[in-house]
Amino acid sequence: MFAPKTIDTDDKAALYRELAQQLGGLLSGEHDPIANAANTAALLFNTLPDLNWAGFYFLKSPDELVLGPFQGQPACVRIAVGRGVCGAAVEQRRTMLVEDVHAFADHIACDAASRSELVVPLVRGDRVLGVIDLDSPLLARFTLDDQRGIEAVAEIYLKASADL
Ligand code: SME
Repeated sequence: MFAPKTIDTDDKAALYRELAQQLGGLLSGEHDPIANAANTAALLFNTLPDLNWAGFYFLKSPDELVLGPFQGQPACVRIAVGRGVCGAAVEQRRTMLVEDVHAFADHIACDAASRSELVVPLVRGDRVLGVIDLDSPLLARFTLDDQRGIEAVAEIYLKASADL
């Protein structure tokens, strides 16, 4: 049985080093993309403080993301590429760090509690496969350290997992 260890530190770089190590162990030897996404979402939600949602959206057609494994409240199922924070991350192929979702005009509110958001695209070669999305009830919860940490999580997930 894999028991996520609570990461007790204020040092975000140390927190993400530990998280990467735990994730590597958790996904080791498993290539199923859904199983790995489910375990990645659970690990993120249970080890990172102040989240109300952590999960995946997958690009199932060129112009639409579809909800994947997640932890948190039930969420919007389909997001058009270019719409919301998730669709913008896919369209621009870059991480979106939104300190205040109310100031992001096209934000899609799945959970009214969300105040800040971090979306990292899953990019394999020249293809975007989907995104990892984190929501927080705190304003400006995410910093550049979180961005780097979750980008590393995306790499570990992509290395371990086959295409959907
Ligand atoms: N807020 C996202 C939608 C997904 S939920 O946060 C889970 C967006 O604007 O794309």
